[in-house]
Amino acid sequence: MNQNKHHTTDVAIIGSGAAGLSLALSLANHCKVTVISKGELKEGSTLYAQGGIAAVFDKKNDSIESHVQDTLDAGGGLCDREVVHYTASNAQDCLQWLIEQGVPFDMEFDSQGKERFHLTREGGHSHRRILHAADATGRAVQTTLISQVQIHPNITLLEQYNAIDLIGDKKLGQQGQHIHGIYMWNRQAKRVETVSAKFVALATGGASKVYLYTSNPDVSSGDGIAMAWRAGCRVANMEFNQFHPTSLYHPELQNFLITEAMRGEGAYLKRPDGTRFMKDFDEREELAPRDIVARAIDFEMKRLGANCVYLDISHKEKNFIIEHFPTIYAKCLSVGLDITKEPIPVVPAAHYTCGGVMTDFNGKTDLDNLYAIGEVAYTGLHGANRMASNSLLECIVFAHAAAKDILAKINQSPNQQALPAWDESRVTNSDEEVVITHNWHELRLFMWDYVGIVRSTKRLERALHRVELLQQEILEYYANFRVSNDLLELRNLVQVAELIIRSAMQRKESRGLHYTIDYPEVDSDPSPTILTPPHP
Ligand code: FAD
Ligand code: SIN
Repeated sequence: MNQNKHHTTDVAIIGSGAAGLSLALSLANHCKVTVISKGELKEGSTLYAQGGIAAVFDKKNDSIESHVQDTLDAGGGLCDREVVHYTASNAQDCLQWLIEQGVPFDMEFDSQGKERFHLTREGGHSHRRILHAADATGRAVQTTLISQVQIHPNITLLEQYNAIDLIGDKKLGQQGQHIHGIYMWNRQAKRVETVSAKFVALATGGASKVYLYTSNPDVSSGDGIAMAWRAGCRVANMEFNQFHPTSLYHPELQNFLITEAMRGEGAYLKRPDGTRFMKDFDEREELAPRDIVARAIDFEMKRLGANCVYLDISHKEKNFIIEHFPTIYAKCLSVGLDITKEPIPVVPAAHYTCGGVMTDFNGKTDLDNLYAIGEVAYTGLHGANRMASNSLLECIVFAHAAAKDILAKINQSPNQQALPAWDESRVTNSDEEVVITHNWHELRLFMWDYVGIVRSTKRLERALHRVELLQQEILEYYANFRVSNDLLELRNLVQVAELIIRSAMQRKESRGLHYTIDYPEVDSDPSPTILTPPHP
């Protein structure tokens, strides 16, 4: 079955979201690039992004310092100030680059009839500074970037390929910190193939699929974080998984986000009896940062024994609602919910992985020629809680930085090497696929129940115990049976779950997205949680 197909390229990019495609486009005029995508090219969190991208365009009322300060405030004292400043300062150029690629951000006319970008607002932002394409910004970004990579002669696109592991020096019997390529599962041909590259970039997105309820698509299984960890990279701040406060609660439509921009445009959060509650939790009310809003909803739901709370924009003009939120309006209407007339039932859902593979300002990891960009990375930007609309921005800013760094090194980098073929001599076809489906469900359920919005030491200990058992079972299964897409994802999810639990256990305080009833106070001298792999 294994025909040992090899690919060779200058830069192999794993992931075709905003981060991966921006990196590809920034490199491709100078070298050969191969983009590997686990599913369809368009599939990933980027496609589903609604709210927009933060950047200071309104220089009269807003400033980069204000964007920096809001990010630091939302990040709960754990952001790297230099990285925040770097990102906010580069935001306008990056948005300009997206505009040049063809992303159609919404425009409006000012009082003098001059056209300008329409800026919306979300939680944590003290000004209107979010460029958007109605309520489907991610789709506009993703489809535009895809149309550009598809016509670039130096970019090879490999769809339906699941990257399994990085091939480092050790695998080649060498000593060092170099990555030589990738093993990947060709999902259509059902065989493992190799890619040999001078540089490898992980742009695999986040890991929110580790939780039972999530706003993320299926591809967000933390593969890049797990691969980098196995290859010897440090990871940081994995305890800070962000829960978006308002995901639709409806039996016929799951995993559908209701953008925070709706609160930015005046929607209220209400209890089932119609009363508002956010003022009981924070003076910024509906526009408090996400960790606060999600915890407030969780608190109210538990206190009242309610299945959901409600987000209500029906007091606004019908045309305003439809113009600003056409996707949400149509989706909700498709299940019989008219948001112009009635409140929307909502619950929190796992949304964003604030931690990840540690990188420097250029997106470079601990290994010589391995980069990590986008949600897979920990750059220091988000701290203990990511501010809305700073994520797509981080994808573009660090994709550009990584491209610059790679291009500065590419002429001196060693040539691609021949790679050892995948060894299937000791595995057979799986005997019981049910082990995979059962463990998928069990893992995501206990992560939701024990490692969710409110944690305790006891719950984390329970979760650690279970994750260790699952890990043993899954690794045994992986060693004995041929790979499949579900098995590869489960192997990564269980690894990421362990990293989240261990990080959460290390943090003996409550900060940002990590709240534990056993340590409700905030530490006076906080630092990031850094985990180092045991065997580089
Ligand atoms: P993704 O876009 O998730 O892409 C990951 C890519 O990696 C995919 O192509 C996937 O197939 C590939 N991949 C993964 N594993 C493998 C593997 N093993 N082998 C091969 N390929 C692999 N952020 C904002 O800033 N503003 C917003 O308005 C906003 N709204 C959001 C709304 C929703 C519903 C969601 C889910 C997220 C939102 N976010 C928003 C967050 C933001 O969209 C993501 O953080 C960002 O898109 C991540 O981009 P990325 O390129 O890192 O990863
Ligand atoms: C949203 O539109 O509410 C999501 C924004 C984000 O995650 O940055």
